[in-house]
Amino acid sequence: MSDQPTQDGGLTPVQTLEQGLAEVESSFVQAFEQTTTEPELRAANAQILGPQGQLTSLMKLMRDVPGDRRKEFGQRSNGIKKAVQSAFEDALASMVKAERARELAETPWDVTLPGRGAVAGRLHPITRVRHELLDLFSSLGFEAASGPEIELHENNFAKLGFPDDHPAADMQDSFFIQKPDGDHDPGVILRAHTSTVQVRTMLARKPPLAIVAPGVVYRRDDDATHSPMFNQLEGLVVDENISFGDLKGVLTLFGQRLFGPEVPVRFRPSYFPFVEPGGEVDYGCVFCRPWEGDEARTAGCNICKGTGWLEILGCGMVHPVVFENVGYDPERWKGFAFGLGLDRIAMIKYGIPNIKLMFENDVRFLSGF
Ligand code: DAH
Repeated sequence: MSDQPTQDGGLTPVQTLEQGLAEVESSFVQAFEQTTTEPELRAANAQILGPQGQLTSLMKLMRDVPGDRRKEFGQRSNGIKKAVQSAFEDALASMVKAERARELAETPWDVTLPGRGAVAGRLHPITRVRHELLDLFSSLGFEAASGPEIELHENNFAKLGFPDDHPAADMQDSFFIQKPDGDHDPGVILRAHTSTVQVRTMLARKPPLAIVAPGVVYRRDDDATHSPMFNQLEGLVVDENISFGDLKGVLTLFGQRLFGPEVPVRFRPSYFPFVEPGGEVDYGCVFCRPWEGDEARTAGCNICKGTGWLEILGCGMVHPVVFENVGYDPERWKGFAFGLGLDRIAMIKYGIPNIKLMFENDVRFLSGF
């Protein structure tokens, strides 16, 4: 092909090439200088040297240049290409250097910005009630004690005076432990109450003593207010001159500290094998507050179910048989004991309608306290 003008009277390939190369040569330095960021610089470079770039397109015209001038144009366009490439590299290097210098010079971060605080966890309602009750009883001189959740059947029942055929002691009510051969071990269970800690403490220590033992217990119970796993707190006082009056005094004070100094207390007779006499303690319902005299409010109260009383704990004077079983002289030592459900207190205190809510680990529930 020769260097002929195009039919529409445009430029010949040589002219186009000459003009184009002159344009690139005169403009690339400025084009690079006008950029201020690396992406802009790279884009400007691509406009010249990229696959669709100005110089790349011009170099494609080389095949239309007459043979005797190809060398000249080849050298010229290669020279321009090299000049563009090195200008681009220099510009890039100084841009990176300037950016680095700027980063080093500026304050690395703004220490005055407010921090992104970590979301604080909080104590579970049962843990809170446990802390509160431990505080309360320790202020009355009680020590904290504990015992294992996997317990000897004997400590859970026989040592506490349960007769062998007591219904609570049979397989329908307790969780037994399965041995590796698949058989259950009749001697070992998940403790059904914290009263086991009475036995363990008395077997291990000499009187006098005053302990409270919070802990998890297990029973085959399952509805809105009962869970197969729940929390109790046991109390035990043993000394030489303990009377029912001491029991009443401590449990009255306990109720007043927990529910308020004005709350009425009611002792009802009840039966537990390990105490004699045994009783249950109710406190006036702190929601409908019947002692303030509004009967209609009490009748409609769904927390105390219209009774005006909250049933909170079991208690009694330690049965002489229990003292005998742990090697204490029942003629010399007297004592009282009590047990209550921590979950029940948390439910009352925080208005929790279903015990299961406390064991599901749902943050929507847990973050409400
Ligand atoms: N252990 C009993 C229960 O789980 C509660 C109880 C009642 C504990 C009377 C006591 C007590 O210490 O004296 O139902």
